[in-house]
Amino acid sequence: RPQFLQGLLLDTSEQKRSEEALKESEERFRKIVDTAHEGIWVVDASGRTSYANHRLAQMLGMSLQEVLNLSFHQVVGQGTASHGVQETLLGETGQHNTREVALRRKDGTVLWALLASSPLENGAGQRVSTLHMVTEISERKKMEEQLREYGERLRLLASHLEGVREEERTWIAREIHDELGQGLTGLKLDLAELDRRLTRVEWPEQDKNALKGRIQEMLHCVDGTIQRVREICTQLRPPILDNLGLAAAIEWQLSEFERKTGVSTRFHTWEVEPELDMDRTTTLFRVFQELLTNAARHSGASLVEVRLEALHKEVMLELRDNGCGIQGQAISGRSGLGLLGIRERVGLLGGSLELGSAPGWGTRALVRIPLARQEG
Ligand SMILES: Nc1ncnc2c1ncn2[C@@H]1O[C@H](COP(=O)(O)OP(=O)(O)OP(=O)(O)O)[C@@H](O)[C@H]1O
Ligand SMILES: [Mg+2]
Repeated sequence: RPQFLQGLLLDTSEQKRSEEALKESEERFRKIVDTAHEGIWVVDASGRTSYANHRLAQMLGMSLQEVLNLSFHQVVGQGTASHGVQETLLGETGQHNTREVALRRKDGTVLWALLASSPLENGAGQRVSTLHMVTEISERKKMEEQLREYGERLRLLASHLEGVREEERTWIAREIHDELGQGLTGLKLDLAELDRRLTRVEWPEQDKNALKGRIQEMLHCVDGTIQRVREICTQLRPPILDNLGLAAAIEWQLSEFERKTGVSTRFHTWEVEPELDMDRTTTLFRVFQELLTNAARHSGASLVEVRLEALHKEVMLELRDNGCGIQGQAISGRSGLGLLGIRERVGLLGGSLELGSAPGWGTRALVRIPLARQEG
């Protein structure tokens, strides 16, 4: 029967063509999978690897056969941190998602990878396994870690330098006060003695008066120098800070500020001052000085109000001025070093700096520092 034969011939060639097309498309996908820079990994719901490419094996430091026999327990580290990784690998998170995970290579080292995962479903729409595209990010992670470490070291260095600076200042202030101060006082006593003795010397009155005049000038000069030495010591580190505490030092600094700038100041503080350690006292005082300098330099204010309080186990320092207010970029801390320095210093004690504008005011800066040490 010729008709039947013809039909059979037609069917065969049709089938052959579609088989070839299928082979071609399979070949194409295999090429893609084999040359991909990403690892490709299909894991079923029980954690068994049902498919993996060479790149994944290479990333994990295993042979392809080893990867195919792999259970996810072998690549996921023990401990709670691995919990999310398990969920991701098993596709328990459901929909398509991307996350960074730490996997364990065969040699025990850590492989940081970005997993882009999506569920694979069977014909009935049930999820049978999960497809992961795996990108190695160990290098990036290492750099991130280095950057973080570097930042941390920089912070430590800054804090160390800040401490050294404060120590130096204290030392210089004491040295100047003791050495120069004593020398000058001695000189003053000597000059006074000279003046007294000159009275008893039998010289023409005119000559004695000329010399006495010179001695008075010298005494005047020494007095001025003593005064200046005292001022320099006080500027380096006000003794009032160590003797009477933070509130008294702030009050003193404000009255100096008023005298020099003509800007009015108001100060509100506690009646009974809480015990503040040296770190907090110094930090708060230096922060206060920078904020006050900023108000004088940038705000054009005619009034500065300061509040110092201890509330809810933290000490709060608030400084408000009625000036022009602080602009957006300065608030985010990208302009000067002053505010950056404050943030760092306060941060070291577990505190914070808030900047903004209070209604009806210019700039408001609020510094909070926990009273108790965080580390216990
Ligand atoms: N009280 C204020 N009123 C208005 N603007 C302010 C006030 N305080 C700060 N600023 C703004 O914030 C910026 C950053 O202040 P910051 O103290 O960090 O730097 P600076 O004072 O300019 O320089 P320095 O590093 O010497 O302190 C200032 O340049 C200023 O524009
Ligand atoms: Mg400043």
